[in-house]
This record gives sequence, structure tokens and C-alpha cells, in this order.
Amino acid sequence: MAGPAESHGQPGEPFAGRVAVITGAARGQGRCHAVEFARLGADIAVTDLCRDLDSVGYPLATHDDLAETVRLVEAEGRRCVSAVADVRDLGAMIALADTARDELGSVDILVANAGISALGSICTMEAAEWSETIDINLTGVFNAMRACSPHMRRQRWGRIIGISSMMGRSSNPGIPAYVASKWGVIGLCKSVAFELAAFGVTVNAVAPGNVSTPMIHNDALYGLMRPDLDHPTREDVAPAMAGLHVQPVPWIEPEEITAAVVFLASEAARHITGSVIDVDAGASARFTG
Ligand SMILES: NC(=O)c1ccc[n+]([C@@H]2O[C@H](COP(=O)([O-])OP(=O)(O)OC[C@H]3O[C@@H](n4cnc5c(N)ncnc54)[C@H](O)[C@@H]3O)[C@@H](O)[C@H]2O)c1
Repeated sequence: MAGPAESHGQPGEPFAGRVAVITGAARGQGRCHAVEFARLGADIAVTDLCRDLDSVGYPLATHDDLAETVRLVEAEGRRCVSAVADVRDLGAMIALADTARDELGSVDILVANAGISALGSICTMEAAEWSETIDINLTGVFNAMRACSPHMRRQRWGRIIGISSMMGRSSNPGIPAYVASKWGVIGLCKSVAFELAAFGVTVNAVAPGNVSTPMIHNDALYGLMRPDLDHPTREDVAPAMAGLHVQPVPWIEPEEITAAVVFLASEAARHITGSVIDVDAGASARFTG
């Protein structure tokens, strides 16, 4: 059975008539996904926490950041609804999906992108620090999927993309909760892919390498990468960052992740589900599977 936008897909606007819900969209990769889906014709529903968290050693997005994403989407000529909300709040995610359906017409694409990177040793990490990362990075993806999946199943068309990480395929010391959460996102995507396969809904993960956003360009992560220096700079950490990749680049751009997300949402990817696309400058060349 056709989805609600079956009659669309004009050249240049392949997502016309579609609605994309994107979490953590006030800045970084989430904003990039939102603006590109808008450029390609979709209407957009965005959400972000828009406040800092104690266990996160760098500033999170602000209200102004979220307003700027809305402005950029609308500048593409698309409609945009936004909500300041926490992905840990299932009720808020259900309200966002329902608002997207009521105000924009449907819930076709979900990019479960919101996440934090919290550092800490397994010998000293507090339970609350562990929980905050798992609750946002893994349960937050579940909440967004839980909110959007009933709409997609009813429509018999949907695309869910969970944002994992190369750290969801491998590991590094000093970030146990992040690594565990990102491995979890892949397992979650695979299970939901299985469940929704008969309903025209695909579910896949994207596993980025180092992406040039505030999540990596901050003093806390720079300190983890260069513990031998008091105040490491971007130039100081670049070789160590490149060492996590195989291609000799320290970080890649958000647009490169967006390209994979957009592909997974496209008609060309309709028979790709339960998969992971690694966009990680070759880091996956080291993985065993
Ligand atoms: N930057 C990287 O190197 C990298 C690598 C692999 C994976 N990722 C993943 O990509 C995704 C996007 O990260 P980014 O690089 O754009 O970083 P970012 O920090 O710029 O963006 C993350 C966004 O999520 C929001 N957010 C955090 N907690 C939230 C919550 N509880 N509820 C709602 N919103 C919340 C933040 O305010 C921020 O706007 C994350 O899931 C991240 O783990 C990033």
C-alpha cells in the first residue's frame, strides 16, 4: 500500500509531501539533517533540550540555536514545528509526533539524533552519570521510535534512522556509557526493523566517525585525546583524532552524515532495513563484522 506521499518525489524535491521528525536538531548534525530534508521538499518537526547538563563537559544547544534551525528550514520554503523537549520524556516525544501529524499531515521519517558524550572512568563514574548517557542516547532513541512508529505502521510507510557511532561498533577507553549506548542503538534498530518490516517501515543506523560539531570540539574531549597537554588546541588533537579513523582526516563534516541519512530515507533504500551505514573515514575497516 502506498504511503501518504506516493504521488510526490519530483526531481529536486524527492521528499515533497513527507514529514521528517528530527531530535537534537538545534545545531550540529541534527540541524544539517533538518535543513537538507527541507531543501529536498519535506516539512520538518524538530526538538532539542536547549539546556546544559551537569554530567556533560561541554555546552549543549540553546533556545537561540533551535530558533535558528527553524529559521533555516523555513528559509527553504518548508513548514517547521519545534518543541523544547527532552528525549528522555516519552510523553513529550509522543506529543511531538502527534503535533507533526496534526499540523504537518503525517510522520514519515524519524532521525533519532539527540545525544550526549559524557566522559568518565569505570572506576569513578557515578550511577547518575551512567544513567544520564544511557537514558538520553539509548532510551531517548527508543522514546522517539515509540512515538513515531505507530504513525508509520498505520500509514504503511516510514523511515527510521538511529544515529549510532563508530563507538557503537568498536570502543575507546574513558567513555563506557557512550560506547554501551551506541552499541545499544544498533541492537534497537535491528529489532524494530524486524518488527516493522511487513509495514513498509525501514529502520537503520548510521555510525559516524568524528564529526566536526561542538560534541568533539570542546575542552573535555580535547583533554581526553591529549592528556599529556594542559590546554590542548584543535591542532594538538587533530593527529589523535585522525588516529581513530583509517583515512588520514581528523574529522568529517555533518553534511557527510546527512548524505547517508537522506539515502536511507529515499525510495532507493526501500529494501535496506536492519543495516548500519558507517560514515567514519574508514574506521570500520578495523571492525571484525
Ligand atoms: N560529533 C561526533 O563526532 C559524533 C560521532 C558519532 C556519533 N555522533 C552522534 O551524532 C549525534 C549528533 O551529535 P552532534 O555531533 O551533532 O553533536 P551536538 O552536541 O552538536 O548535537 C547534539 C544535540 O542533541 C541535543 N540533546 C542532548 N541531550 C538532549 C536531550 N536529552 N533531549 C533532546 N536533545 C538533546 C543537544 O542539545 C544538541 O543540540 C549524537 O547522537 C552523537 O552521539 C556524533
